[in-house]
Amino acid sequence: MQHLTDIASLNSDSVTRLFAIADSLRKAMPARPLAGVTAVNLFYEASTRTRAAFELAAKQLGADVINLQSQTSSVIKGESLVDTFHNLCAMGIRLFNVRHPKVGSSHQLAELAPDGVHIINAGDGVHAHPTQALLDAYTLSKNLGDLTDKVIVIAGDLRHSRVARSNIALLNMLGAREIRLAAPQEMQISPAPAGNIIEYSDLDSATAGADAIMMLRIQRERITEMEIPDALTYHRQWGLTKGRLATASADCKVLHPGPVNREVEISSEVLDGPQSLVLQQVQFGVFVRMAVMLEMLRPGYELNSVEC
Ligand code: CP
Repeated sequence: MQHLTDIASLNSDSVTRLFAIADSLRKAMPARPLAGVTAVNLFYEASTRTRAAFELAAKQLGADVINLQSQTSSVIKGESLVDTFHNLCAMGIRLFNVRHPKVGSSHQLAELAPDGVHIINAGDGVHAHPTQALLDAYTLSKNLGDLTDKVIVIAGDLRHSRVARSNIALLNMLGAREIRLAAPQEMQISPAPAGNIIEYSDLDSATAGADAIMMLRIQRERITEMEIPDALTYHRQWGLTKGRLATASADCKVLHPGPVNREVEISSEVLDGPQSLVLQQVQFGVFVRMAVMLEMLRPGYELNSVEC
């Protein structure tokens, strides 16, 4: 894998291998396999989980890490993304974890990348967030096993969500039995994505009998064309409450990519409850990102070289 710009960079075999590497890394860490590599977290949007997870993952593998945020870099003096990229390449940086509001920005850098330089998309506008989808699918498979007989709901502001788009693509690739997309009409993805999709315009119908429910926040920072719903009204209609969760399968798992807006898309009772995997997603996100970095920078890395 040269770059990870969206789920199309992967296939089911490469996902299986990434998950196996993540499993091994959770058992024991190899001794600094990325020593001598410098990675940059090049972030043009706010982040807590993704930026911290990339930094931790790279450092635990022995890489050096630079964090560059647009607000405190020469971006505010007018330097373009591409010029910033070329300058960082000139310093010998080999791995770019890039978050940018423009759709296709990671793909653009991947096209320009010299040999030996790798791009991981850490979120580009509404388009893709592939490492989030990988960590979500990894968390689901660790808790539910084989996904081919599972019903998975993704609910909330789908239209403005790169997480939803990447999850839909990856769950389809992994053969999930049914992907239910539930959203108010103005937050649905149009046209509807291809695959094993069923669309719902109310949450109660979508959650009935589900094996997992992934809730999404209203992504205010990307909403320009519609009014932001009132939080209380939205919660009544679209919030995942204990009552709604009770209509799902008895052991239904609850996911959320974060950041969470409590009592808007999800109640605190559900978020902090026994069926929630939200903090496990965050924990596994570090290992999944380590696996991606290893596959890129040490391709064919021998799993049995990991000290288990
Ligand atoms: N899930 C996610 O991308 O969170 P951050 O925006 O905090 O990185």
